[in-house]
Amino acid sequence: MMDVKKILSEYSKRFDGPIDEFLPPEKPDNLMKATVQYPQAGGKRMRPAMVLAAAGAVGGNKDKAMPLAVAIEYIHNFTLIHDDYMDGDEKRRGMTTIHVKYGGPTAILAGDALFARAFEVIAQLDVPDGVVRDVLKVVTRAVWDLARGQQMDVNNENGEEVTMDEYIETIRLKTSVLFAAGAAGGAMIGGADKRTVDAVHEYAMLLGVAFQMFDDVLGLVGDPVKLGKSVGNDVRKGKSTVMVTHALKNIKNENIMREFRSVLGKMDATEEDIRKARKIMEDAGSVDFAIEMATDYTKRAIKKLDVLKDSDDKEFMIALAEFAMKRDV
Ligand code: IPE
Ligand code: IPE
Ligand code: MG
Ligand code: MG
Repeated sequence: MMDVKKILSEYSKRFDGPIDEFLPPEKPDNLMKATVQYPQAGGKRMRPAMVLAAAGAVGGNKDKAMPLAVAIEYIHNFTLIHDDYMDGDEKRRGMTTIHVKYGGPTAILAGDALFARAFEVIAQLDVPDGVVRDVLKVVTRAVWDLARGQQMDVNNENGEEVTMDEYIETIRLKTSVLFAAGAAGGAMIGGADKRTVDAVHEYAMLLGVAFQMFDDVLGLVGDPVKLGKSVGNDVRKGKSTVMVTHALKNIKNENIMREFRSVLGKMDATEEDIRKARKIMEDAGSVDFAIEMATDYTKRAIKKLDVLKDSDDKEFMIALAEFAMKRDV
């Protein structure tokens, strides 16, 4: 198996320059600092790596996809700034979140600024105009869908009971679509035909579901220091995840159910409360269930890549799908 972390960190170095290049300092200082914080902090950079890998895996020139890789990472960072504000979270990539450090208004503007710059960078793509148009279509559609998904996610707070289908639709929209726009866009830039672009898009949609399901698992049982963000807050917010939906359906004991519900959505839940809720979900098999479900999505994602010829880039895309749910970061 490939060393995904190592390859991601090699990709990451390659992105540092271009990511910085399109964010030169301007006034006012506080907005600029807020805008560059997440891009410069790095993160795993799975999405831009996927853009380049997809371009290469279809036989194209990876360098030509660099502007899209940068743009997708800017869009991702824009959504993280707004997401942290919406979720009221205090840590991201091991640092204080933008809205806490600079205030809500600056967080909104820093997100907007990154969002705008993403399209300026896409305009620099050195490919035929028709390809740029197709890339724009898939990327703008993704951001539109992402807004819908984020709203559905917010609507699912406060212990709202959500079916598994509704949950999956939410994460397809809030998380998968951006991975998919990056992968499909990379394939388009690489010169792939429609059937191949669609397969790569579907691969990333399925990978995104596995990624977010596992992210929810990490958000419950992960190490906040490694993750660089807080854990347990989904329970405090009563946010619906595969684990919560499974637990609500499968806890048979009334007392345990009462205890579980009393913590779910309790904004001031203590660490001890969270540990209790976590134990209840573990005992109900809900965590294992989520991992099994994510594994299934990963397998389906990988299967979509059958249309591609064997190559290192294809191998990396396969390994990335496995990494999406075998990571500790
Ligand atoms: C975090 O994404 C947001 C989710 C969709 C769960 P990542 O886990 O890819 O964040 P970074 O980019 O590595 O920080
Ligand atoms: C992040 O979702 C998804 C987007 C940024 C669109 P979450 O809110 O579930 O992820 P984390 O835990 O903050 O990274
Ligand atoms: Mg969040
Ligand atoms: Mg959120």
